[in-house]
Amino acid sequence: MSKPLWHAEGRDVDERAMRFMAGEDARLDAELLPFDIIATRAHVRGLGRIGALAGEDVDKLVRALDEIARDVESGGLVMSGTFEDGHSAIEAWLTDRLGEAGKRVHLGRSRNDQVLIATRLYCLDRIGRLRAAAVESGRAALRRARENEHTLMPGFTHLQRAVPSSVGLWMGSFAESFADDAELLALTASWMDASPLGVAAGYGVNLPLDRDGVAYELGLVRLHVNPMHAQATRGKLEHQALASAWQVMQTVRRLSWDLVLFATAEFGFVTLPDGATTGSSIMPNKRNPDLAELLRAAPSVVGGCMAELQQLLSLPSGYHRDLQGAKPPLIRGLRVAIDAVGLVPWLIDGLAFDAERMRGACDPAMLATDRAVELAAGGVAFRDAYKQVAESLGELADRDPAESLRARVSPGATADLRLDEIGARLDSFAG
Ligand code: ARG
Repeated sequence: MSKPLWHAEGRDVDERAMRFMAGEDARLDAELLPFDIIATRAHVRGLGRIGALAGEDVDKLVRALDEIARDVESGGLVMSGTFEDGHSAIEAWLTDRLGEAGKRVHLGRSRNDQVLIATRLYCLDRIGRLRAAAVESGRAALRRARENEHTLMPGFTHLQRAVPSSVGLWMGSFAESFADDAELLALTASWMDASPLGVAAGYGVNLPLDRDGVAYELGLVRLHVNPMHAQATRGKLEHQALASAWQVMQTVRRLSWDLVLFATAEFGFVTLPDGATTGSSIMPNKRNPDLAELLRAAPSVVGGCMAELQQLLSLPSGYHRDLQGAKPPLIRGLRVAIDAVGLVPWLIDGLAFDAERMRGACDPAMLATDRAVELAAGGVAFRDAYKQVAESLGELADRDPAESLRARVSPGATADLRLDEIGARLDSFAG
């Protein structure tokens, strides 16, 4: 490892201890690097505006940061274990390219607020991607709901046949769930839309930094005003990002569970796209729903990451190196969530529904509830109507379960799915 930024002659830290302290930073800071560079550029311009950096230095630094951003993107510059962390890498690259001007970049900031802002911008970017994926998943479910609006299937409670339902209702439920998740992600993004940059080590600095202007340049709407509070958002912010991601993963989990169940020979309601199933190494007859199973397992990763963060967040005010431990669960959790939700639209689009099998699983006794409601609407007390129907379930034998779909007119039910309403909500969270 090259000499750290804080190197003091004759006070070298043990090499093994250094490696342990750097932990996974080399790998994880590579993910944060593009955001660290953007924030560094805004910081430099801010210093220029208050006269703390000469205009000429600002220009040089901004140009060099643009180049570094391009080189990082093309793979020409790689964040490696040579540096203690990504922040040190940026300063070293600037100093290599510019000499004196590079050494001026860290005026008025600390790695503490540098990591805060890089993490913030990273979270906003990833939350935005996740929201877009949730909206696309909801739209795919909505397409399938529209195509199969009146396709009969059983509705279950306790996994027992309950009342007739439709593919429109079932798929529509995922469309609306993804809309809720997308809304939560949008709310989370606006909750974290604040700049911690300019708080330095967590106590401000003796310079009139243009914190508002820097926040504006970064596209953030407000500041975390109090420097100690800004510092204390570390970890809490990451936890909320994961919590919102977990919500959308929970929708994915319910969908995958339904699919694994309904794709069994015993149900036979659904066939998964070939590309989403795998063969067995020993049983030539098998096709397994591995993708749906792994999507079902993915929320546990996100939940595990949240638990890891919760264990970490037991610190007093001020920066503590412990907080470096917030990076691995954040980055892992969001990556798994984005990868998982990204597959959902394709999976939903590729589902084949077996209308015959689903209709065959709807027996007339499932109309008992409709019948009891019918009698009660005609004046019989509901409890009496319930008993009357329970004692004569056989009389339902000649009723058509499809009738039930047409009769269920309560708002949102099978005769009034309001798919357009759900679609409009999805559209409103798309941008
Ligand atoms: N890698 C460190 C972290 O993630 C960067 C900040 C280091 N600050 C310090 N005071 N040692 O927290």
